[in-house]
Amino acid sequence: MSKKIILSGIQATGKLTLGNYLGAINNWVRMQEEYNCYYMIANLHSLTVRNEPEELKNNTLKILALYIAAGLNPEKNTIFIQSQVKEHAELGWILDCYTYMGELSRMTQFKDKSQKHADNINAGLFTYPALMAADILLYKADLVPVGEDQRQHLEITRDLAERFNKLYGETFVIPEAYVRKESARIMGLQDPTSKMSKSATNLNDVIFLEDEPEVILKKFKKAVTDSENIVKFDPETKPGVSNLMQIYASITNKTMEEIEKEFEGSGYGNFKTTVAEAVINTLKPIQEKYKMILNDKEYLEKIYIDGANRARELASKTLNEVKEKIGIL
Ligand code: TYM
Repeated sequence: MSKKIILSGIQATGKLTLGNYLGAINNWVRMQEEYNCYYMIANLHSLTVRNEPEELKNNTLKILALYIAAGLNPEKNTIFIQSQVKEHAELGWILDCYTYMGELSRMTQFKDKSQKHADNINAGLFTYPALMAADILLYKADLVPVGEDQRQHLEITRDLAERFNKLYGETFVIPEAYVRKESARIMGLQDPTSKMSKSATNLNDVIFLEDEPEVILKKFKKAVTDSENIVKFDPETKPGVSNLMQIYASITNKTMEEIEKEFEGSGYGNFKTTVAEAVINTLKPIQEKYKMILNDKEYLEKIYIDGANRARELASKTLNEVKEKIGIL
């Protein structure tokens, strides 16, 4: 039997965070043996907010270097840049015409981003999920490994696929979200009631994958906890401590009970340092490899050209099938 297909991606805007790593990339690395994987850099999605052109280009390459440094094998996986497979934009437009204004206006990400970028609520920000659906449906992906915040976009993708299949007969595979429990939603270190995010204004709230070890340690030491001094998993009443436990659990694969036992009677100081060290030790080899790969522009170019060629094979087949069905010559 042929392997199941996975597709996922990260936007090329801003610096990647520990949330992106634990919620997405780390799980992709775990899945690469078992599945036929397509991992992309969503640079067209990045256009929904304003970017410096040079910075967007650099970020795209940085993310590519990070994928590989984190352990994604470019020979086993198809790693590509969204804009280089034109089928994404084309199917995105087609799916726009099958997506309702009502369903798009319910999207939490649209509501959040409209608030954050009140001076630039553009049409692309609104139809963002239709392009994301195109990303997924072009490859007939069975599974989409993402963090919890993308679940709603997966729901709309499924609805679109079902709607299309009903109208024109079996065309798309209905994809499923794969959200790993421990790393589903890594929260901010200063505000553990909101998601750790690239666009945080308080830099102590977020660990960037490029942060130096001393910076990481300092940020963890400053992390907001509570006054109980007991390491116990309870996201409702102890969001700060529970978030640190979740970070530790996703890195070490320990259960919450094991972590509670490990830090019984030890206080928060030791706990925070141990979590910080686990993060530092995980990121260190990735950071070293990342710096080397990022300097090798030829190698990166080879990977994304090769990836786009491979991605296009499947994407163009699906797009032709769609066009045939809807009467586009
Ligand atoms: P993006 O770029 O915002 O985030 C990339 C991935 O990282 C996950 N993530 C988190 N997981 C846990 N805790 C956090 N604090 C955290 N922050 C981010 C996200 O859930 C995501 O999995 N629309 C997508 C990009 C995209 C895509 C796709 C994803 C475009 N096309 C097709 C999957 C399939 C996005 O903005 O992710």
